[in-house]
Amino acid sequence: MKSAIYPGTFDPMTYGHLDIIKRAANIFDEVVVSVLNNKEKTPLFSVSERVNILKEATKDIPNVRVESFEGLLTDYCKKIGVNVVVRGLRAVTDFEYELQMSQMNRKLSNHRVETIYFNTTLKYSYLSSSAVKQIAQFHGDLSAFVPDFVAKLLYERFGYKE
Ligand code: PNS
Repeated sequence: MKSAIYPGTFDPMTYGHLDIIKRAANIFDEVVVSVLNNKEKTPLFSVSERVNILKEATKDIPNVRVESFEGLLTDYCKKIGVNVVVRGLRAVTDFEYELQMSQMNRKLSNHRVETIYFNTTLKYSYLSSSAVKQIAQFHGDLSAFVPDFVAKLLYERFGYKE
């Protein structure tokens, strides 16, 4: 069985993330979507909220599992026995950071962990969780960027009734 991990901050998950998850689930037998519990950052949503959002959004995709992890990605890969990391590339600006991360992960795992990139579907190429949070803060239209239930949670978090 070929499994892959799709790690990220997912604060919150967007349609861009969901697109990568669906495409990865078409290729791999199992996709483990895993939320990083990064104690250095102050996210808008807690780890369990982010996990629950991802679980709800992927509930109809049987070969997707949602988890969270702490510490090094390569240690987590070893722990759950998965050697393929999936990431999305939106634009050239993502490339440098992604390349560095993948090379570091290869080194840290004695060349066991490989990273595979999905180029983001064009209509999501400018989409990011940070942009979504900014739009939500000013009660802007989120319908093209996140599922309705996520938009509702975002508006609530910024003090809007709906
Ligand atoms: O959604 P993001 O914020 O781009 O995801 C980044 C993530 C979670 C994939 C990355 O920060 C990560 O893997 N962090 C775990 C710490 C780690 O393993 N660092 C060494 C690789 S540079």
